[in-house]
Amino acid sequence: MSDVTPGAPEEAPHLDFAGTTPYEDYVQADVLTHLQHLRSDDPGEMVFLVTTQVMELWFTVIVHEWETAAHALRRDDLPAAMAALKRSTYELESLNASWRPLAQLTPAQFNAYRSALGEGSGFQSAMYRRMEFLLGDKSASMLVPHRGAPRVHGELEKALQEPSVYDEVLSLLARRGHAVPDAVLNRDLAQKYEASPEVEAVWTAVYAAADQDTELVRLGEALTDVGELVWRWRNDHLVATRRAMGSKVGTGGSAGVSWLEKRATKNVFPELWTARSHV
Ligand code: HEM
Repeated sequence: MSDVTPGAPEEAPHLDFAGTTPYEDYVQADVLTHLQHLRSDDPGEMVFLVTTQVMELWFTVIVHEWETAAHALRRDDLPAAMAALKRSTYELESLNASWRPLAQLTPAQFNAYRSALGEGSGFQSAMYRRMEFLLGDKSASMLVPHRGAPRVHGELEKALQEPSVYDEVLSLLARRGHAVPDAVLNRDLAQKYEASPEVEAVWTAVYAAADQDTELVRLGEALTDVGELVWRWRNDHLVATRRAMGSKVGTGGSAGVSWLEKRATKNVFPELWTARSHV
């Protein structure tokens, strides 16, 4: 048993640092908590801005996981790829839970600071585009808004040309003897991935296998979890938007809800969903 009195200096945390605290040096909390430059006097704007910033941070983590997964798949390290995909599903759940404070905004509440956003829109989020590119939703035109920001533009340009997680999965399936067509394996990586009937047949065969505990079924299910959670983010965003602004046009210049509806219905990793009808 210790003879040290509770609260005595011996067991209390250190208080004395020459410069900033080691916590600050690592976390940069002072930087993070001074990035909230509000544009209106409305008390509801703070949570709108911070939720958006929190989501940007989650996008950053998820991009990191999916790049880790893509690199691991390329070197046939399935355990490392699975670990990164699995972590990303927990992160996607946290990302999606972040909708809570904004999910029930009324139009009047949103109007209180909406005009202060000017033409600002999440549509201009470069990190969200990198997520989409890693999922196979490539689009060169999504680089255009970032022409004036060299670093961001450079990162997006690189991501546009690189294989998505799904491209790496399909290459791995081909290396394992599955009949992924050459046209898919050698596709123009800067284009959006389009569903292929042959790839659907590959997933059908994987999922029809007698042993459901194979590595490839587990990989398919991890990707399906990711796809489902991405679909949920898009649909939660759609519903929050519908509640906050009805059918008004978006600050980014789109038709608003009707534009988002078209994007939210699409599934990433398309054949992983359609193959299920044939198993
Ligand atoms: C309830 C508040 C929100 C409303 C009313 C709203 C509204 C919209 C609208 C109308 C669009 C279509 C483009 C436009 O014309 O602006 C859009 C796109 C987008 N928003 Fe939001 N948004 C909200 C919150 C957020 C938050 C918190 C994020 C987090 C970063 C976000 C990220 C995005 C992204 C990434 C897109 C592009 C989607 C795509 O390209 O498919 N939004 N938003």
